[in-house]
Amino acid sequence: MFGMGKSKQVVALDIGSSSVKALELKRTSKGIEVDKLGVELLAPDIVVDGAIVDTGAVSTTIVKVFDDNKIKTRGVATSVSGHSVIVKRLSMASMSEEELLEAIQSEASQHIPFDIAEVNLDHQTLETDPNTGNMDVLLVAAKKDKILNYTNVLSLAGKTAAVVDIDAFALQNAYEFNYEPAENQTVALLNIGASVMNINIVRGRVPLFTRDVSVGGMQYTDSLQKELDLSFEDAERVKMGKSVPGVSDEARLPVLKSVSEIIILEIQKTFDFFKATAPGEHIQKIYIAGGSARVPGLLDLLKQEFSIPVEELNPFRKILYDPNSRHGEIIQEDSPRLAVAVGLALRSFENL
Ligand SMILES: Nc1ncnc2c1ncn2[C@@H]1O[C@H](COP(=O)(O)OP(=O)(O)OP(=O)(O)O)[C@@H](O)[C@H]1O
Ligand SMILES: [Mg+2]
Repeated sequence: MFGMGKSKQVVALDIGSSSVKALELKRTSKGIEVDKLGVELLAPDIVVDGAIVDTGAVSTTIVKVFDDNKIKTRGVATSVSGHSVIVKRLSMASMSEEELLEAIQSEASQHIPFDIAEVNLDHQTLETDPNTGNMDVLLVAAKKDKILNYTNVLSLAGKTAAVVDIDAFALQNAYEFNYEPAENQTVALLNIGASVMNINIVRGRVPLFTRDVSVGGMQYTDSLQKELDLSFEDAERVKMGKSVPGVSDEARLPVLKSVSEIIILEIQKTFDFFKATAPGEHIQKIYIAGGSARVPGLLDLLKQEFSIPVEELNPFRKILYDPNSRHGEIIQEDSPRLAVAVGLALRSFENL
């Protein structure tokens, strides 16, 4: 999205509220291969609701993840999400790119709840409606202070922001590369992290509707801590199905289920809104990514609720890696939460 230069090798840096993930891909004669991969956990309260609160801690973590994994590339592709990012699909009369550049400014001021002077704007022409001749344009606005929040931390760590993307589009990029969707295949991509859920409904390679909701894995941990009187660490272990003395499945599962139901309600609301604004569109399948994709019971509950196939998104479906290496271990354990990083790292092979 907010490309800052020509295409060149970048390292993906996904700064989430629970961890920083770094990934660099390389092209070899066999295909696209994992070159560098590292995940470094962040304590709670360092990144809150998609905003970097403790810049010092994050920049130190970035330096560590680069050093530990011998990452030499300085150009970083990163992404933002949450309230400071607005994505809108607009239907506009057909016009030239120059006319559009002007028109988009005034359109933006009508559709964006922030002062236009305070946002970075980008747009992408999607498709022309065969009935009206109108063109659909994707308008993306991200608050400047949000982007600065990220680029400043990168500078502090001695890196340069080559690309600042949007989580939902990085997710889509990972999906497109790995699944090569047919033009008429409409799916909902969910990325459920620690504090934000990105929802992106996509037909073929066209984004139809995008929304970020402030729910995620932290809610499960919070509820487990409160309901079962556990420490943060124990609640995290319980959530991941690991055993903690004194906590049975009978105690654990209902707490998880009640939080899953809250998250599913948000998804339902988004789908309902989408259906109301895009009659004739039909979601055929759900792909779920993000660390919370693996919360016990969530995937089955989604299947029950929506009566469509639900599958974990595998961002390494078409990416090569050595399964017996340290990379292989991380990927096997954590692949769904690496979807955004994969989407960002693939930008190395695109013209920006
Ligand atoms: N196996 C697992 N089972 C259940 N939950 C898990 C598992 N692995 C990770 N999680 C949870 O997933 C969340 C982290 O996911 P992810 O890395 O996608 O989030 P993030 O990018 O750090 O956060 P965000 O994007 O929301 O700011 C944490 O809440 C973590 O507890
Ligand atoms: Mg994330």
